[in-house]
Amino acid sequence: MTATRPAIEAVGLSKAYGRREQRQVAVADVSFSVEQGEFLGVIGPNGSGKSTLLKLIAGIYPPTAGTVSVQGTVSALTELGVGFSQELDARRNILINGTLLGLAPRDARRMTDEILAFAELEHVADRPLKNFSTGMHVRLAFAVAVHVPFDVLLVDEIFLVGDLSFQERCAESFLRFRAEGKTVVLASHVLPVIEALCDRVLLLRNGVCEALGPPSVVLPSYVGEPLSE
Ligand SMILES: Nc1ncnc2c1ncn2[C@@H]1O[C@H](COP(=O)(O)OP(=O)(O)OP(=O)(O)O)[C@@H](O)[C@H]1O
Ligand SMILES: [Mg+2]
Repeated sequence: MTATRPAIEAVGLSKAYGRREQRQVAVADVSFSVEQGEFLGVIGPNGSGKSTLLKLIAGIYPPTAGTVSVQGTVSALTELGVGFSQELDARRNILINGTLLGLAPRDARRMTDEILAFAELEHVADRPLKNFSTGMHVRLAFAVAVHVPFDVLLVDEIFLVGDLSFQERCAESFLRFRAEGKTVVLASHVLPVIEALCDRVLLLRNGVCEALGPPSVVLPSYVGEPLSE
């Protein structure tokens, strides 16, 4: 029976930041489930609650109300630089993060070269991260996130800053995750990527789930809307 349980199940999920007059409801009473092996896209204007929703799924924030349960191991790329030390070089950051994210120290060492190669950052492996560009940070973070063991991968906007070569590498990775039956939640403003990769799309607006369905239905209802509110 457990094999048929959803990978992710959110019921009445809500998150408010701050208190009283400062209170900001970021995610409001959102319910959905994601089947094992399914790819869910999360779209919506800036500030609509996408990153907050991913952090709730990752367990980075406790919900203000409602519940979210996840089956299996989660790897989350939700906020750049979290877990990275800007003073340390890329190689040391991979070792530390890989270990924190579940790799045995020996495996983390073995995997460091593989991660650097995947990120195409071998030539700057010994430079401190504070000297990295935004795109280099994203490449490193994504490479680490997909090299640790996971059943459910949460990815918050990696396509806007990555160059073409990185985007191709990401696309190849996602195809592999699909073949492996991994579950993926992908928040992005790059709608062609969402359309190409996702089985269903959740459209957030002001923290509320405005639509949830196949890309062919949800994307047309969103296109043409301004990207900020
Ligand atoms: N740490 C925080 N403290 C207070 N308010 C926050 C915090 N993080 C997000 N918010 C607020 O919560 C709301 C949702 O933000 P969130 O980052 O989830 O949106 P988003 O859909 O990911 O936006 P974007 O497209 O810009 O990435 C916004 O109003 C934002 O100002
Ligand atoms: Mg965001």
